Amino acid sequence: MKVLNLLSDKKYLSGKNLAEALSISRAAVHKQINTLKRNGYVIESSPKGYKLCAKDDVLSEQELLLAVKKPLGIFKKLLYYKKINSTQTKLKTIADAVAREGVIVCADVQTGGYGRMKREWSSSNGGLWFSMLLKPALRPDEVSKLALIISLALNRVFKQKYGVKTNIKWPNDILFKGRKASGILVDMSAEQDIVNWVVAGIGINVNNVLPKELKNISVSLGEILNKFVGRAQLLAQFLCVFDEIYAAFKKSGFKIFVKEYNDNIVFINESIKIDTGFDIIEGVNLGIDGDGKLILKTPKGLEKITAGTVVKG
Ligand code: BTN
Repeated sequence: MKVLNLLSDKKYLSGKNLAEALSISRAAVHKQINTLKRNGYVIESSPKGYKLCAKDDVLSEQELLLAVKKPLGIFKKLLYYKKINSTQTKLKTIADAVAREGVIVCADVQTGGYGRMKREWSSSNGGLWFSMLLKPALRPDEVSKLALIISLALNRVFKQKYGVKTNIKWPNDILFKGRKASGILVDMSAEQDIVNWVVAGIGINVNNVLPKELKNISVSLGEILNKFVGRAQLLAQFLCVFDEIYAAFKKSGFKIFVKEYNDNIVFINESIKIDTGFDIIEGVNLGIDGDGKLILKTPKGLEKITAGTVVKG
């Protein structure tokens, strides 16, 4: 139990009462109050004691733990930054030194956020920008499956937890009525047949105001629901859902997710073009197979594609 839990009733509590309730010193209470203030909580101090006045949209580890009602198997630690170049870059630089998976780096603002193909990723205040460290026992060529199940987890969160009818655009964009609400980026370090680590970067437009040039192609969850959406709550929902999916993936493999994925992708059975970086392949989208590859029916026969971008729907 921490000071924040006791203050969440938004009533005045004296330093003495807090210290007694938590069996800690008043200096320790004071220290926790200062940390909370640094993390964006507005706490009033008066002769009556401390009172939590506002809880903007704080994305702290405490807030995350308050939001989850059950233990988070995968989650280990949340490293929060007000402003950072990129959560992805940050986590990649420390990934070798971190022994266990489940560490998350998040930030309110990214000044150098990037997406797939190193494209700039607009990351202003109000969005949920985070990177998660995973250490799966996979071969490097299987890591793309991980990106697919992360998109499935996000799609479930949007649908089941927020009632928003999203779809997946292969491989892992989350779309609402054709506009992008979330993107996923997966970086890895691997040798031969072994994956050392995977850093999954997830960007979700939540309460952020999208720049003019993105307005037609992107959308935020707040805009869809027409209300403010708490980011810690959203991250907690994602972690709960991903935890379940990741455990099932480890136990039973990828094949169990194929139907759900194909039921949720856009442009199924439609003619699409994929830019693989080497080639543009055109064909009818038959969905993914049990290896997570996208199958296109082309005039030359079936083509299986591991990576690429859909350039035309
Ligand atoms: C894409 O759709 O191209 C993927 C976008 C991934 C953006 C996230 S935001 C958190 C993490 N940090 C980054 O710099 N990128 C990812």
